[in-house]
Amino acid sequence: MTSALASRTLLLIISGGIAAYKSLDLIRRLKEEGAEVRCILTEGGAQFITPLSVSALSGQSVFTDLFSDQEEQRLAHIRLSREADLIIVAPATANMLAKMAHGLADNLASAVLLASNKPILIAPAMNNIMWQHPATQANIATLRARGAYQVGPSSGMLACGEQGAGRLAELDDILAAIHNFFSKNKPLTGRRALVTSGPTFEPIDPVRFLGNRSSGKQGHAIASALVTMGAEVTLVTGPTSLPAPNGVTTISIETAQDMLQACQSCAAQMPPLDIAICAAAVADWRPETTSTSKLKKGESTSPPALTLTENPDILATISQPGTLRPKLVIGFAAETDHVTENAQAKFTRKGCDWLLANLVGANKGFGQDNNQITLIKRAPDGAMTNDTWPAASKHEIAETLATHIVHFFEG
Ligand code: C5P
Repeated sequence: MTSALASRTLLLIISGGIAAYKSLDLIRRLKEEGAEVRCILTEGGAQFITPLSVSALSGQSVFTDLFSDQEEQRLAHIRLSREADLIIVAPATANMLAKMAHGLADNLASAVLLASNKPILIAPAMNNIMWQHPATQANIATLRARGAYQVGPSSGMLACGEQGAGRLAELDDILAAIHNFFSKNKPLTGRRALVTSGPTFEPIDPVRFLGNRSSGKQGHAIASALVTMGAEVTLVTGPTSLPAPNGVTTISIETAQDMLQACQSCAAQMPPLDIAICAAAVADWRPETTSTSKLKKGESTSPPALTLTENPDILATISQPGTLRPKLVIGFAAETDHVTENAQAKFTRKGCDWLLANLVGANKGFGQDNNQITLIKRAPDGAMTNDTWPAASKHEIAETLATHIVHFFEG
């Protein structure tokens, strides 16, 4: 059976305590379950274990320095915090807890934690008097109140020779806490979702086609975000260079007609679809006829005429009322100008429930890693509402959209 940790990205922060050596075993166990484990070793942590042993076990370079000039480590405090599904601080020393509680950012570990809105699991380990100290107790209480999860410490003989609470939780308990986190955070479990992504290619002849610059990044990120939240996801995608997202049933097609057919057969399966998100940049038109052999320049000096015919509108088709209509249908509107006005008109025309409008053009939208979205919905009184999100990576936008979807189903 696949582990719930397979394909999760975990960021392990190892701070400076004697229990740091146990983190090496933790890395090994997490890797065995298929997780991708990135590690930050603080200066204190490096007094107990070496960066080399951490990188050898995790299979990745270990991050240590806030001010590194190495290309891959540059801006690591932003990147590492954005890419993690869960941040684990093990062992978390009294000093680390104090920095986290008070928002210090004076080393890479604390800067990552401050630059992050990701869930955090803390496994404290320290001398029992330090643990019981009101300052430490206030710090952990502050962190818990902000939503951090905690495992341990356990009681027993401490490295300093004293007895009491302060031992790093047993590895099995840390692993159980990590599993518990991922099983609790699947609010879309039992929901079926369809996502379209990428461009469509409309053939002119066996070697030429009409296409567009869609990279599929946004649609693929949405499919991943939904599967992470527990949904059963089918992704129907046009040609892209992206790998099929983990845990997603991916159907590759080329033309708009094939995309419609794949979507309709997905919608006809039981149980009915809960969610459909049309993020694909579907060609509005296709050549009326496709030559079975390559068109040649020939003797004539004039180029061949290309007659176009309209493609089916997949979003509008899925949005039509009926028993197969998903409970929530979401479209995109990629606009080069007058984004809100054009998108609002499209929203009405397509009949979908929500529309995500974004600006495309030079260095915007298509092919880029970042996106800026205005979410258009209808208020209960029927009026259109616009909610503009801050510019963010396509992965963050996918997560924000998934959260809106969770709220929709939770009422
Ligand atoms: O009309 P326009 O192409 O701008 O509409 C964009 C929205 O409609 C996107 O959600 C896109 O996936 C969807 N669409 C579609 N089928 C088409 C054209 C667009 O599903 N033929």
